[in-house]
Amino acid sequence: MIYTDFHSHILPRMDDGAKDADTSLGMLSALASQGVRTVYATPHFYADSDSVESFIARREQCYKELLTAMEGRTDLPEVRLGAEIMICKQLINLDLSQLVFDGAPVMMFEYPVSKFESWYTTYTERISANYSAIPIMAHFDRYDWINAKTARLFNSNKSHTYFQMNCEGLEDKKMIKLLLDLYESGVRCVFGTDCHNLADRKPDFDKLNELFEKEKIKLGPLGLQSAPTAYIANALAHSEKKIFSANSFNGLI
Ligand SMILES: [Fe+2]
Repeated sequence: MIYTDFHSHILPRMDDGAKDADTSLGMLSALASQGVRTVYATPHFYADSDSVESFIARREQCYKELLTAMEGRTDLPEVRLGAEIMICKQLINLDLSQLVFDGAPVMMFEYPVSKFESWYTTYTERISANYSAIPIMAHFDRYDWINAKTARLFNSNKSHTYFQMNCEGLEDKKMIKLLLDLYESGVRCVFGTDCHNLADRKPDFDKLNELFEKEKIKLGPLGLQSAPTAYIANALAHSEKKIFSANSFNGLI
């Protein structure tokens, strides 16, 4: 399989991700071996402690450092710029145009882990509409408040949020069930590693590869399709238009 990683902290010295360019190269090398061909660098943007201008300048500098380190390496994935924007009300007053993903009309938002508030949905919708962008909810599998009901609040007639699952979410049966539920109700989902380093938060697209391997073993005449992992693997394997991690957004929006 060929994948796009929609969520990473691969830029050296940018945030709490790669501590230097060597670590970035190690992470990219691991992603390449897992089948990833494009990686979106999505550093954290916190409007309460950073300005857009300073964020963009820092991101540009770290990106240049990485591109210099990658020179001559044809074995590594392409790195494109994006951002992981912490939702807050003041975002509505800022110019976030440069935080739209490079080459894809999407913006990625993260939310407080422990508490859901109703304004998240209206602000997500309003902010992304300002840039004609589709919002992506970062790592939906990490929120304490996420369930089928709250997830649906992000998808109305006016707004269609994409849901990004961290590959580690594939280890949680409850999250796989929710992923399926979203898939069946027409919500589009993408995957990402949210990798920060080469240790405790390393690139883990191999979890998706393992799932496909399991599918080959489990799917068959024995009716094991109802097993959650086999079912989601089947859904993933046959639903590139709704749950996808391959290629780019071209033709999928
Ligand atoms: Fe992240």
